[in-house]
Amino acid sequence: MIAALLHDVGALSHNERIELLDFEEKNPHLHTISGFVLLNDLEIFKRAGKIIKHHHLPWQNGAGKTFNDESVYLESHIIYLADRIAASLNQKSGVLNQAGNIIQRIKSRVNNRFHPQFVEIFETISAKEAFWLDLVSPSIDDRLEIIWEDCSKLLSLKELLDVTKVFARIIDFRSRFTSVHTSGVAAVAGAIAGKMNWSEEDCIKIAIAGNLHDLGKLTVPNEILEKPGRLTKEEYNIMKTHTYHSYYILSKVEGLEEINEYGAFHHERMDGNGYPFKIKGEDLKEGSRITAIADVLTAITEDRPYRKGMQDTQAIQIIEKMGQDSKLDTEIIALVKENFDQINAARIKAQQQATNEYKAFERKLQQAKNLYCSDTVNTYQGTNLYLLS
Ligand SMILES: [Fe+2]
Ligand SMILES: [Fe+2]
Ligand SMILES: [Fe+2]
Repeated sequence: MIAALLHDVGALSHNERIELLDFEEKNPHLHTISGFVLLNDLEIFKRAGKIIKHHHLPWQNGAGKTFNDESVYLESHIIYLADRIAASLNQKSGVLNQAGNIIQRIKSRVNNRFHPQFVEIFETISAKEAFWLDLVSPSIDDRLEIIWEDCSKLLSLKELLDVTKVFARIIDFRSRFTSVHTSGVAAVAGAIAGKMNWSEEDCIKIAIAGNLHDLGKLTVPNEILEKPGRLTKEEYNIMKTHTYHSYYILSKVEGLEEINEYGAFHHERMDGNGYPFKIKGEDLKEGSRITAIADVLTAITEDRPYRKGMQDTQAIQIIEKMGQDSKLDTEIIALVKENFDQINAARIKAQQQATNEYKAFERKLQQAKNLYCSDTVNTYQGTNLYLLS
């Protein structure tokens, strides 16, 4: 289930996601490898990563048990089938009208594309109308909840921190312009909380909030995220929706309430003129005020491909001015100023590590590209399977 939920996690751009909805996938290798690389070095997602790596591998009468001498999990073939069924659905027309055609289409590719045992199971379960109605139901989450109950797992704070590191990568790696921003915010927020004598547990909580603070940016198109110059009013309005989405996505997760407030309120301001909830300083938790400062401080001091980060004194001046203007908490700013070198060093260290991870990610993707992709050939081990119709 986890691998299925995350299966296209490697399709980082909106266009890539749209292309994957094509039943005859043109070039799926990049997003499968990219998903694998994103998840592989985190213990908790290792197995899901390996499953995802081959989720577009055809069964090829059994040859799909392995790929390049590597054995392939059967789960990869389950996800391949499930994904192609879902990709065949036209959400806009009646699902029951489409069922027969989809079943035929899948059956005609048994053995060649799909594992026969899974096709057989699909035939049985898809005989129920409810199967199809669930697929397009707006309350599909409720159906999934029943399954979650059996396989849910309580995470420790440290495990949650690991899980959110994956989110940080997914958010940041969409654009090389901000490829280390989240890691910087998490490190700065953690360092400030440490200087304020927060407990170790609470410092982890705020680092988690840092990892999640820009989660809603996943809904913002790349062209806006990557625009080097000033955003137009319309673009800025789209950008401004990100914290609204961060908040409501995270509010669905039980136990995350406090962390959500720390993270999702990072554009709220002390005078109540931030966005999107216009919450005033006295109603903002200390954690939210820390994250707001961490976000500004990181954004102005980090290097971006189109500009250098600000020097220490200038950065301090900017946040002090924002304190005087009742935007950020002045007491926390005073503490940041006092401990600037240490806090900034934490940012630099975390962002250096994230830069190395990002370079490794790009390198592995390039290798995959050289190995599997070219304009004229889309093959798995020499078989031109993608052009079958
Ligand atoms: Fe996919
Ligand atoms: Fe933000
Ligand atoms: Fe941010």
